[in-house]
Amino acid sequence: MNDKPVGETAHVNIHDALKLDGTTEKIIDYYKNWAATYDEDVVDNYYGVGLIAELLHNQLQSRDFKHLQETGTLKIVDVGCGTGLLAKPLHALNYRLLDGIDLSEEMIGKARETGLYKDLYAGINIHEPIPAHLKNSYHAAVCLGVFTPGHVQPESLYQIADLIIPGGIMLISTRIPYYNQTSFQAISDKIDNDGIATLQQSIRDAPYRDDGDAHYWIYEVQ
Ligand SMILES: C[S@@+](CC[C@H](N)C(=O)[O-])C[C@H]1O[C@@H](n2cnc3c(N)ncnc32)[C@H](O)[C@@H]1O
Repeated sequence: MNDKPVGETAHVNIHDALKLDGTTEKIIDYYKNWAATYDEDVVDNYYGVGLIAELLHNQLQSRDFKHLQETGTLKIVDVGCGTGLLAKPLHALNYRLLDGIDLSEEMIGKARETGLYKDLYAGINIHEPIPAHLKNSYHAAVCLGVFTPGHVQPESLYQIADLIIPGGIMLISTRIPYYNQTSFQAISDKIDNDGIATLQQSIRDAPYRDDGDAHYWIYEVQ
């Protein structure tokens, strides 16, 4: 019998996830084992979920958004959607054309159980070129909890931009230690200089979880 208090188990899972080394095999293996209990482990103080949904909604409702239209007709992709925690607040805001992509079959399996995604794609690695059928397909991409220590390279911003039609937006969270320890700022500048995506806004030191804040980044894709 596992007699560890739930809180302690959760702490171990989240803490260990941040110690992954970004290799595909280890991430697949880690999330295969975590998928079943992920929601109960993280959901308690995961302020980032509500916050990023609200930021996305504000951006897509803004007069500056090039594809301003009814929320129900906007195509959104949840990148590294995991078990689909973001689907609930987005669905409540009437985003009904929501797809999810993730490396992990098991996390996508849990996302499927929500019944709130239109299409879900497992085995998509944002370190690699995006499959042709998904390129230039979405008005917006949202990516929460993926640019985090031990997970993806900042260069994955290029792959996410590939999912979006010109004038669409991408919204990314970066845990603060991730931002400090990686070349995220340099790649964010580069994607702008390369004419791929322009930074519209960054929200610094904003709520994410009790164990640390995050920065949030909003880009318009060119
Ligand atoms: C901490 S979870 C976040 C899940 C969800 N977005 C959330 O906030 O609850 C990180 C997710 O990123 C996915 N992931 C990690 N590396 C990835 C990669 N290279 N390509 C696609 N997904 C990846 C993992 O499989 C996992 O589901």
